[in-house]
Amino acid sequence: MFHKITEATVTIEAPKEEKISADLPVFYNPVMKFNRDVSILLLKAIDNTGMQICDLLAGSGIRSIRFLTELDPKKIRSITINDYDKQSVDIINKNIKANKGKFTDRTADIIVTNKEANTLLHGSTGFDYIDIDPFGTPNPFLDIATRRMSRNGILAVTATDTSALAGTFPKACRRKYWATPDRGPLKHESGLRILIRKVQLIAAQYDKALTPIYSYSKEHYIRVFFRCTKGKTKVDELLKQHGEHNNAGPMWLGQLCDPKLADKIDKLAHGLDYGTDLKFLDTIQEESKINIVGFHDLHALCKKNKLEVPRFEPLFKKIMKKHKLARTHFSDYGIRSDISEKELVKFLKEK
Ligand SMILES: C[S@@+](CC[C@H](N)C(=O)[O-])C[C@H]1O[C@@H](n2cnc3c(N)ncnc32)[C@H](O)[C@@H]1O
Repeated sequence: MFHKITEATVTIEAPKEEKISADLPVFYNPVMKFNRDVSILLLKAIDNTGMQICDLLAGSGIRSIRFLTELDPKKIRSITINDYDKQSVDIINKNIKANKGKFTDRTADIIVTNKEANTLLHGSTGFDYIDIDPFGTPNPFLDIATRRMSRNGILAVTATDTSALAGTFPKACRRKYWATPDRGPLKHESGLRILIRKVQLIAAQYDKALTPIYSYSKEHYIRVFFRCTKGKTKVDELLKQHGEHNNAGPMWLGQLCDPKLADKIDKLAHGLDYGTDLKFLDTIQEESKINIVGFHDLHALCKKNKLEVPRFEPLFKKIMKKHKLARTHFSDYGIRSDISEKELVKFLKEK
């Protein structure tokens, strides 16, 4: 059942199954390589050094093992690799042993723990980077994780319950995320913004302001990296950026990505050679420059106005003479632009 699996720079043991589910004896999902690639790119791109890292829900340990192998030795002071599943912890230890020769820093403290995530965080003094990569919702871990975030630290959150966040189950979204989801073309962007607000509200109780610095939605999941700062005024300012959009929300209406960081991540990714989705990162980099909530979905707009979908490139050229425009990673048919819907329809009607 366990096989040797190579991902980027490391080879680990993990189950290789057709069907990826929480029932695997030790969880490893090859599709999440991109999620791990971006974590590494982000940790490379930020200035933080000497970090105390917590891989809260580690599964096979692949994420931490890649951190230890791919990050500059200056980055990590200690890394806590945790899972409450005994079999996972056995595999984590085995995988560390097998890859130890490749670690960039032999002095970083490597602490493998077999604890319930909340218990681990409760008993800790805090971390500079906490990665929450759960099955489904991150909700059970948010309270203590935000309390244990260091000043200027990074909180990384994955949510795979997109059916709640992106509108399939609106009641679940209200219960779990205290917001009404969008069910139309903007559903993934709204879901991401709804998740951001929820995490911010939890942290706000402890006077911590969590600003998203890089976030996206891909396949079955949503991912956000927050920078944590402390202070009542900062929190108050942040909360002013909550509101509704397109009859959905409340949600975060501020930036999804820091454009300078998105640039840096994109450039770093182009310099590495382990087959990450560069086109996706390029699109995030381009759209991060346009700080506008929502996008125009050209298919939906053409359908609504009974128009034929035009060729995109000539249309974009025309629009860009007067407006900002970028493709969006949320949809192949979406454009993020300061053009109004009315004006866009006029363009679409032109031959
Ligand atoms: C989605 S997997 C993690 C995948 C891993 N981060 C990766 O990149 O491959 C979630 C893991 O969390 C563990 N887990 C779930 N609930 C937990 C809890 N309350 N405390 C500790 N570990 C938990 C599961 O055993 C599982 O291995």
